[in-house]
Amino acid sequence: MEKAEGRNQTPIEEFILLGFGNSPEPQPLLFILFLVIYAVTASGNILIVSLVLANHHLHIPMYYFVGNLSWLEICYSSVIQPRLLASLLTGDRTVSVQGCLVQLYFFGLLSSTENMLLAAMSYDRYLAICHPLRYDALMNGRVCCQLVSGCWLTSFVLCTTVNVFLWQFTFCGSQEIDHYFCDFSPMIPLSCNDTQSLELLALVTSVIGGVVPFLVPVISYICIIITILKISSMIRRKKAFSTCSSHLTVLGVMYVTTITVYMVPTAHTPKVLHKIFSVCYTVLTPLINPFIYCLRNKEVNESLRNGIVKLAALRNLHKTREVQNLAATSIDVVRLNS
Ligand SMILES: *[C@@H]1O[C@H](CO)[C@@H](O)[C@H](O)[C@H]1NC(C)=O
Repeated sequence: MEKAEGRNQTPIEEFILLGFGNSPEPQPLLFILFLVIYAVTASGNILIVSLVLANHHLHIPMYYFVGNLSWLEICYSSVIQPRLLASLLTGDRTVSVQGCLVQLYFFGLLSSTENMLLAAMSYDRYLAICHPLRYDALMNGRVCCQLVSGCWLTSFVLCTTVNVFLWQFTFCGSQEIDHYFCDFSPMIPLSCNDTQSLELLALVTSVIGGVVPFLVPVISYICIIITILKISSMIRRKKAFSTCSSHLTVLGVMYVTTITVYMVPTAHTPKVLHKIFSVCYTVLTPLINPFIYCLRNKEVNESLRNGIVKLAALRNLHKTREVQNLAATSIDVVRLNS
């Protein structure tokens, strides 16, 4: 453990998350920006979940997945953003070691579940487009439920294994983490234990939780594109593509940002750029998903419109009732008088 040598060996109790500034001062502008983003993210995703739950014609596997993804995004941004908001508001950048480990745990759990859920969604699209005749037999509410619980269970097992090891670590030396949330890679160098076996374990779990769910959509979409290209009618081709275009957009955004953060070597890119890319996939991806589904997906879009029309109709109904009541009372008054 030569890297721990020459360091202060007393275990530390708190980390300092450097965040976006160099000094521990409140940052009201960033606070407002992230507050708005968080509010829009939460309400947009809550809207999608309620649309899926409230509309019977959205009770099919494809939209169950969409609803579950939105639910996951709500949790995901709630793991990162409230703490960030608090520290931007107060300027207090400290976080206890336990708090940091808890955040790391939930961040890992939710992001690997999300990766797997996106993979399950592309498997669903693969079945729908490449095996349309057998789709109903292969994919239904029960299978969908099994897939969703499978995603949660697998990432629960993976993340818990890594974290059981991590919880036994002590951290000493530098307290500073140059990031805005507790991520694995900036935290590990601060530990005073031997991290080799943990890093190996983390590599294995990130292959299972990251690379495999990355390959499933790639393979599924290769098959989907081949199938779509074979369709001769232009209209049917467009229709087949339109059922997967929103999912493909979400995947694209997710992949581009994640790959940039994790594959671009940190040594050659400035820290600021690294943080900006991290913001893209931890903060912006959950934000834009509801927009993608509301704007690009015809059925979600229609349900939203129907919902708004119904609400408006309800209000008008109240108004008409009031007018009718008023009219009725005035007629009564007239009758009484005559
Ligand atoms: C998530 O998936 C399950 C099972 O497939 C489904 O019953 C549930 O309604 C979904 N949740 C949401 C919020 O859509």
